[in-house]
Amino acid sequence: MNIPFLDLGDVNAPLQTEIEQAALRVIRSGQYLYGDEIHNFEQKWAAANGTAYCVSTANGLDALTAALHCLKTLCHWPDNSEVIVSAHTFIASFEAITRCNLKPVPCDVSPHDYNIDCNRITALINANTVAIMPVHIYGRPCDMQTIKAIADSHSLRIITDSCQMHPQWSMVNGQLSTGVDVTAFSFYPAKNMGALGDAGCLITDNKQLAELARAYCNYGANVKYHHEIKGINSRMDAVQAAILSVKLTHLDEQNKLRQHQALRYSQAITNPLITLPYGGRDTDKSCWHVYPVFCHKRQKLQEWLSANGVGTIIHYPVPPHKQKAYAELNTLTLPVTERLCNTELSLPLNPALTAEQQDYIIDVINNFT
Ligand SMILES: Cc1ncc(COP(=O)(O)O)c(C=O)c1O
Repeated sequence: MNIPFLDLGDVNAPLQTEIEQAALRVIRSGQYLYGDEIHNFEQKWAAANGTAYCVSTANGLDALTAALHCLKTLCHWPDNSEVIVSAHTFIASFEAITRCNLKPVPCDVSPHDYNIDCNRITALINANTVAIMPVHIYGRPCDMQTIKAIADSHSLRIITDSCQMHPQWSMVNGQLSTGVDVTAFSFYPAKNMGALGDAGCLITDNKQLAELARAYCNYGANVKYHHEIKGINSRMDAVQAAILSVKLTHLDEQNKLRQHQALRYSQAITNPLITLPYGGRDTDKSCWHVYPVFCHKRQKLQEWLSANGVGTIIHYPVPPHKQKAYAELNTLTLPVTERLCNTELSLPLNPALTAEQQDYIIDVINNFT
């Protein structure tokens, strides 16, 4: 059997008619940027996440950048102010911080959920610290209640990177987590709610922040050709907004399917060489952007799966603090993050994966020696 890690054509095929109708509607409307499609999607996504405002952007990195830039402006943070960021993340979380002339301070993650280790945050706080950036890695929510308590007791802001968790799912005692200043999403095609190109957005309950972010992403202008601040060009295009509105109507059922697939993996993978995510428990506590397993013989495991036709990806082989681009951080040692990066392997998990394919993958993994 040949099973790619992810075939987006297969994932989108069941929605083809709806997607084509949405795209055609935009093509015929003559309105390709701004307009009703953007407005409608922003309203729906804000509602889906229980927030007041949504500002669409061209991608997730811009959403994170706009979030930080606008908080920096509103809170008068000096350059080089420090943002404590989860060390186990895609490089974009760090890039957004440095793009704003702020300093990323990586915080090691918990071995239990791979998210920022709340027990390590306080020790990193000093007079230059202005914010915490938790990242819901692999689709599993961080402990937002504890992060919020720490932030409040030190007057820090929270910018959440939810690029891997759709929607914002930080259910705390059955409630959507509140008190986060701003949350950023990426709708990169491979995400749980993926566009057919680049797209992103931020959500917030702060009107001033939303308005500033909207202007910032529009060359600093609220009124055409009247530029009040120095901005950037970061727009979601209307075709993507229309497609994302379609995708949103299927997100819940697709997330449930992902949870079901995660449960099957966690129940059926019994090879003692493989460590299951979250100890094989709590499969209902993630929207499973990724199903990560951990293995000390990771390279051999990946080769074994590949030789048997199963595609996998490593998220991520090198953590941001060990990247050449962040040479200034290279001397840091963050043992949990580094161990995860040395042992992690993501298995195929997506709405197009069939039960038969999954059974095959489970068999191949259980036969790995
Ligand atoms: C954790 C995280 N942050 C930020 C991003 C950046 O999103 P984009 O690629 O849309 O800029 C991604 C997406 O890949 C991500 O996974």
